[in-house]
Amino acid sequence: MPVISFATSKGGAGKTTSAIILGTELAEATDVIIIDADPAKRLTRWSTLAPLPTRLQVITSNGERAIQDEIATAQRQAAFVLIDLEGSASRLTSFAIAESDLVIIPSGEEQQDADAAIDTLAEIEMEGRARRRTIPAVILFARTSAAVKSKLEKHIHGELTKAGRVMEAELHRRTAFSSLHNAGGGLRQLDPGDVNGIDKAILNAVAYTSEIIDLLEEARNAQTA
Ligand SMILES: Nc1ncnc2c1ncn2[C@@H]1O[C@H](COP(=O)(O)OP(=O)(O)OP(=O)(O)O)[C@@H](O)[C@H]1O
Ligand SMILES: [Mg+2]
Repeated sequence: MPVISFATSKGGAGKTTSAIILGTELAEATDVIIIDADPAKRLTRWSTLAPLPTRLQVITSNGERAIQDEIATAQRQAAFVLIDLEGSASRLTSFAIAESDLVIIPSGEEQQDADAAIDTLAEIEMEGRARRRTIPAVILFARTSAAVKSKLEKHIHGELTKAGRVMEAELHRRTAFSSLHNAGGGLRQLDPGDVNGIDKAILNAVAYTSEIIDLLEEARNAQTA
């Protein structure tokens, strides 16, 4: 079953949030395991705040010696395995990337994010070369403004589009997304009395999730071609 990792060396780029959004959306329809492989354990903390969707399970990784077995076990149990990684290169990160069918690289629209995304693409390519396979990777613009792009933002988009594949869907900067870290659970469990814009956030999450499913299918077809 497909393994999807979230990686970028930029701290706070949106890895954990993007993993929570994808995991909770996919779990509406199928069994999902998210492995929290970041020693900071922010995703594990989120998972304790509220009951999770019934088809979602969160596992806290025991580190680089365990990660390969943890992934293999999760693949036997769930239709999708997501891995939330720490914001710096490590053996754990490279093991997880090597096992991935798709790596999602969240990036904001600032130069530091773009530089980190480009470094991460290079790291994924190197990992792929060592394993003699192409590891599909995509850049996901996260924490972006829904307004018209500024000159700098357009420049960053251009730079990343040249460096790699950029997802069409973006995760805009939305209170509903950041609220997940306080409220726990998924977007559909948020209380509309507490959080504004849940409907728009769900539409955004659905577009993001369906594009990921298309990308996985494309990667699978490319492999068997
Ligand atoms: N699409 C978004 N809309 C609003 N807030 C967001 C969004 N994505 C991330 N954030 C906020 O930005 C902060 C950092 O996000 P997150 O923890 O997902 O990043 P990260 O890449 O996992 O960071 P780290 O490298 O520290 O693990 C969080 O407070 C989160 O609430
Ligand atoms: Mg994180």
